[in-house]
Amino acid sequence: MTHKTIIITGGAGFIGSHVVRLFVNKYPDTKIINLDKLTYAGNLANLKDIENKPNYKFVKMDICDFEGVLKLMQDEKVDGIIHLAAESHVDRSIKDPFTFAQTNVMGTLSLLQAAKAAWNGEWEGKRFYHISTDEVYGALEMTHPEGIKPPFTTKASSGEHHLAYGEKFFTEDLKYQPHSPYSAAKASSDQFVRAFHDTFGMPTIVTNCSNNYGPYQFPEKLIPLFINNIRHRKPLPVYGKGENVRDWLYVEDHARAIDLIFNEGKVGDTYNIGGFNEWKNIDIIKVLINTVDRLLGRPEGADMDLITYVTDRAGHDLRYAIDSSKLQKELGWEPSLQFEEGIEKTVRWYLDNQDWMDNVTSGDYQKYYDDMYKGR
Ligand code: NAD
Ligand code: DAU
Repeated sequence: MTHKTIIITGGAGFIGSHVVRLFVNKYPDTKIINLDKLTYAGNLANLKDIENKPNYKFVKMDICDFEGVLKLMQDEKVDGIIHLAAESHVDRSIKDPFTFAQTNVMGTLSLLQAAKAAWNGEWEGKRFYHISTDEVYGALEMTHPEGIKPPFTTKASSGEHHLAYGEKFFTEDLKYQPHSPYSAAKASSDQFVRAFHDTFGMPTIVTNCSNNYGPYQFPEKLIPLFINNIRHRKPLPVYGKGENVRDWLYVEDHARAIDLIFNEGKVGDTYNIGGFNEWKNIDIIKVLINTVDRLLGRPEGADMDLITYVTDRAGHDLRYAIDSSKLQKELGWEPSLQFEEGIEKTVRWYLDNQDWMDNVTSGDYQKYYDDMYKGR
């Protein structure tokens, strides 16, 4: 790692906390500044294990605060930014698109402007890495509802499931066709990042990743929400018929890809990240029920009757499937976990960390900053 001081935005969130942990542990000679506003999705307890490391610093700040970010970048001589801070939940974006435009678009622009001012055209050794989503590409058709063998094999996708539900995948050259306010805002932010590369020569990189799963995910998202509901025998609200397909990647594999791309990716380029691991929602939900039941010593499948079909999400994208072959070929990245292992690990983590879940669902996690950081 050649960078001396990096800001990771959104480091108190789900993916950000895994990226912060990886960088703090792997690069003891690099100062890692976690810049996070601590919205409802930010939880500093996600980082308890590294919060006292000498190369870690937390700064409570809104990415929209241009002056604040600029000052921080100048004071700390920041030479790299890994930008994850965002509003990330599609259902919330349908109810409140303004917040998504503000944080995801204006917040990203504010960061770009601050980096441009702080670096002042001296791009050597600098990097602005923007983390985005596959949702910007829109939805793929489901031409093979029964599933076909995709033409790729990766270590992680060689498990039992490993089916694709159509021939087409999201490749880096596809036109952007976002459907939800969330993905429209992310698409816009991606384009601003590219515009700063093309117009000012800023050394940027953009990556678009598929659905992540693993520890520390806020329980508004499918996997942690359903694990917790199954545990407490609460209904599982399945949108529509449960036929929508998502492509799941274990969050630590995403963090490893971010590390590799930040250090070795080509400036100005875009990489798609995903594990060729498509699942229909209903199939994944059945795996979750069987796994939770087994780990809690209940008869496997006993909780299938919790499945409750509810009104579909508005504009619900049918299928996401990432083609990550560019990243695999150019930088040699490969997911490390088969899905079966990853989901078992994830379910175990949520069941073993009921305190974390209880703190989140009760709202107590929001006191962590005042208790641990205020006045430091
Ligand atoms: P998350 O919602 O769990 O965390 C977002 C973090 O950003 C929180 O800590 C929050 O406090 C912080 N934040 C929000 N607004 C802020 C602001 N104005 N200023 C500073 N901090 C702010 O999100 P996540 O699921 O970890 O996603 C992280 C990034 O990865 C997002 O950019 C998202 O679009 C992208 N992404 C997510 C997935 C996924 O499956 N979760 C997949 C691909 C890409
Ligand atoms: O594809 C990457 C994206 O994945 C990220 O960019 C987003 O930040 C992240 O939230 C995720 O978006 P999804 O909308 O795919 O994730 P979510 O967990 O909300 O939903 C997954 C699927 O499950 C989706 O098809 C909707 C469905 N679902 C979700 C919830 C919360 C349900 O059927 N019931 C539910 O209660």
